[in-house]
Amino acid sequence: MTLEELTRVDVDLGEKSYPIFIGADFLSDMGTFIQPYVRSKKLFLVTDNLVESLYLPVVQESLEAAGYDVYAFTIEQGEMSKSFKEAERILEKILKLGCDRNSALISLGGGVVGDLTGFCASVLLRGVDFIQIPTTLLAQTDSSVGGKTGVNTSSGKNLIGTFHQPKAVFIDTHTLKTLDPQQVLSGFGEVAKYGLVLNADFWHWLEEAGERVIALDDEACRYAIEQCCRIKAAVVSEDEFEKTGLRSLLNFGHTIGHAIEGVGGMRGSISHGEAVAIGCVLAAWLSADMELCPPELPEKISLQFQKWGLPIQFESTLKNVDLIAFMKKDKKATGSQLNFVLLEEIGRGVLVQNIPVETVERVLNEKGRKKNGFSFFEQ
Ligand SMILES: NC(=O)c1ccc[n+]([C@@H]2O[C@H](COP(=O)([O-])OP(=O)(O)OC[C@H]3O[C@@H](n4cnc5c(N)ncnc54)[C@H](O)[C@@H]3O)[C@@H](O)[C@H]2O)c1
Repeated sequence: MTLEELTRVDVDLGEKSYPIFIGADFLSDMGTFIQPYVRSKKLFLVTDNLVESLYLPVVQESLEAAGYDVYAFTIEQGEMSKSFKEAERILEKILKLGCDRNSALISLGGGVVGDLTGFCASVLLRGVDFIQIPTTLLAQTDSSVGGKTGVNTSSGKNLIGTFHQPKAVFIDTHTLKTLDPQQVLSGFGEVAKYGLVLNADFWHWLEEAGERVIALDDEACRYAIEQCCRIKAAVVSEDEFEKTGLRSLLNFGHTIGHAIEGVGGMRGSISHGEAVAIGCVLAAWLSADMELCPPELPEKISLQFQKWGLPIQFESTLKNVDLIAFMKKDKKATGSQLNFVLLEEIGRGVLVQNIPVETVERVLNEKGRKKNGFSFFEQ
C-alpha cells in the first residue's frame, strides 16, 4: 500500500500544518509511511498493555525493517495512567536512553496513550516531534487531532496539559475490530457530538447509518472518521488555542460529562465516552429548559441515543453537590460561574455563560439521575 492510497485530511495551521491519513490494514507499512514525518532514526513509542499485545509487534517490526531504532514503553491501560507519575517515568527513561531535539515520540493506542505521549513530547527538551497512531474510535475521531495533551490530577481531568500538534496522524480503521463493543459505543458518543453541535448533515447521516458505524462496517467507519476529522480540522485551524469560542463548541456534553466521569468514573464505573454521551443529552435538556432550542429536541436526541445503545442517565448515587463542584472546575468556568455549550438546534451549538446552579441542578434531578438505581428508559 502507498500513502497516496489513504484518505487524507489536512489540518491547516501554517507551519504547524499536518496530515491525517485514514485507511485500513496498513500498520505493516508504518515504517515507510512515517519517513516524511520524522527526522531521527531513534523513535520512542508509547503504548498500553492491551494494545501492546495486539499491535506493537507489527508496528515495531515495520519501523525496524525501515531502519529505525524503536524504544517501546508500555503503560497500564486505563485513565489512571494519564498521570504526572507515568509522564515522569517515561521522560526519565527517554532521557537516560539519550534523545535530542530531532527525536520523535509515537503514541500507539487510545486517547489515554495519545494524551500522555503528547504531553511528554511537548515538554521533552521543550518540545519534540510527535506522531499519533490512534486505535480507539474516540481517539480516531477526536483526541488524536487538534494537539491537546494532558494528564489528570486529583483536582480533575485534563487540567494540566499543553497544546502540541502532532507531525502526522495515522488512522487504521482495522484496529477498531478488536475493540470492546463498549469502547466502540463510547467513541460513538463523541462522533454524535460533532453532528449535534456543528454539522446537521452529518447528524442526519448518522441517524441513518450510525448503527453501521457501531457494527464497524468498514465503509461507514471510514466515512464517519473522515467527517469527524474534517469537522475537527476546520475548527482547530480557525481556533487552535480555544480563544474565539469556536473550539469550545467541541466541549459539548463535556461539562456534565467530565463531572460524571470525575465523580463516578475514576472508580472505573463509567468510560469517558459514556459520560460524554450522558452529558450531551443533559446539555440538550438544559438548552430546552433555558428555551434556547425547540422543546421537543432533547427527547428526539435522547431517543436516538438510546436507539444506538448510548447511556442517557447517570447513577443515582452521584450527588449534585459533587457534580456541581466538579463543573465549577471546568476549563470553561470563569470564577465560580457555570458556562455550558448548549444547542440552538441540531448542528448549531452556542457557548452560554453564567448559567444558574439551580437550573443545572433541576435538569440533573429531573432528567439526569436514574430513579431508584435504574433508568426509566432501560428495558
Ligand atoms: N486530546 C483531546 O483532544 C481529547 C479529546 C477527547 C478525549 N480525550 C481523552 O481521551 C481519553 C479517552 O480515550 P479512549 O476512550 O481512547 O480511552 P483509552 O485510551 O483508555 O482506551 C480505551 C480502552 O481500549 C483499549 N484499546 C485501545 N485500542 C484498542 C484496540 N484497537 N483494540 C482493543 N482494545 C483497545 C485500551 O487498552 C483501553 O483499555 C480520555 O483521557 C480523554 O480525556 C482527549
